[in-house]
Amino acid sequence: MAKIVVIGSANTDMTIRAEKIPAPGETVVGGVFASAPGGKGANQAVAAARAGGDVTFVARVGADSLGEEAIKGYERDGIDVGKIVRDPANATGVALIMVDASGQNSISVASGANFALSPEDVEAASDAIQGADVVVCQLETPIPTVERAARLAADAGVPFILDPAPAPSAPLPESLLKLTTVVKPNELEASALTGVAVTDEASAFAAAEKLLAAGVKLAIVTLGAAGAVMASSDGKRLTCPPRRVNAVDSTAAGDAWTGAFAVALAEGKTPEEAADFATKAAAISVTRPGAQPSLPTRAEIG
Ligand code: RIB
Repeated sequence: MAKIVVIGSANTDMTIRAEKIPAPGETVVGGVFASAPGGKGANQAVAAARAGGDVTFVARVGADSLGEEAIKGYERDGIDVGKIVRDPANATGVALIMVDASGQNSISVASGANFALSPEDVEAASDAIQGADVVVCQLETPIPTVERAARLAADAGVPFILDPAPAPSAPLPESLLKLTTVVKPNELEASALTGVAVTDEASAFAAAEKLLAAGVKLAIVTLGAAGAVMASSDGKRLTCPPRRVNAVDSTAAGDAWTGAFAVALAEGKTPEEAADFATKAAAISVTRPGAQPSLPTRAEIG
């Protein structure tokens, strides 16, 4: 089994699905509430485990009931939870999510223990990182923590996938992108990383070129329902077609993509094959509500 180490955030998602997402100052009545495990790191760990990976998740949760529930869920998915710290000083992260009738969402996160995930926590997982086929990070934990993971992966010759979500508010350290094997922003994140306003395939390719120039080996810019573009340092330029589905909730679609892509890449598939596998996983996830409850199994992805 492909060994994947995911380092990142764990949240509890409190979601209301309603006709529309309220504007500032507006109240929208008539939604349906659900609570489920989420967090970009945890979602990617679960996505990778369900897609067939042997996953170790490195994270911090609070020493509270939400954290315990989250860990039990990871265990049910067969994830190694031995590197998850129960933080005595900070609560488990919570995300407030609103989803509209078209499946689009808006998310606010109280990071809690996620922002205490430290470079030392990553070092405590260095054995797992050195023995991994792929290491995966996102940006819901401190940047120095992500940098330490990238450094340990690079020193061990392990491919490092950076899902730069949520969009960074400041430029990422140049050294981080140089240590990154694969970066996979969506339109907003690609714009934040490169300064290119990404609105279509042409601008997505322009952003991807900038990411290659910054030192990544493979840049994949996702375009939601329009698919994705892929550019690699060996000169390949490809478009990845979308899968048409009836979307009910796009929460964790990007995480489904990244987790499945990591497994496929670790199994030796080409980036194009891995992207196709990941696109199928993400397409399934948007047809179901919630973050982790929506993530598909290997059998479902096919
Ligand atoms: O990517 C979706 C995730 O973003 C949600 O599960 C929420 O917890 C936020 O981290």
